Amino acid sequence: MSQILVINGPNLNMLGKREPEIYGRLTLGDIEKLTQSHAEKLGLRCTFFQSNTEGEIVEAIQSVRDNYDGAIINAGAYTHYSYALRDAIALTDKPFVEVHMSNVFGREDFRHKSVISAVCRGVICGFGASVYTLAADALSSIINPAEIEV
Ligand code: DQA
Repeated sequence: MSQILVINGPNLNMLGKREPEIYGRLTLGDIEKLTQSHAEKLGLRCTFFQSNTEGEIVEAIQSVRDNYDGAIINAGAYTHYSYALRDAIALTDKPFVEVHMSNVFGREDFRHKSVISAVCRGVICGFGASVYTLAADALSSIINPAEIEV
């Protein structure tokens, strides 16, 4: 089975309580269960990681290089300014899918810019907790590409 890491940045440990009108009422634990059962059906084993600390997130990203087939990342506010996360993703040489639960383009200007998108394979945002399962679908199509029948 392919192995993927799901990396969550600052304040995502507060999901369920944090601004539920924006992020919904599911906790990160709920999202982990949903994503894991969806990923299993795709032949992916996924491990969840969360930290509020930039250096710990850099180390988690680096671990993808030798231990995983790809990753999903919600870098929280670090998305918008952390060149350290960007450089870490680039060195892994593995596919990353960037996700955001909210539609960052409909929010404050500072959320419109991501410094990590360029080193990710794609971005999924605005669909609430479903962004994680949609990202698992996207990663699965990259890691285990199926023959396309026309
Ligand atoms: C977020 C959007 C970011 O702008 C914000 O800082 C977050 C969560 C999202 O999932 O919508 O912490 O990444």
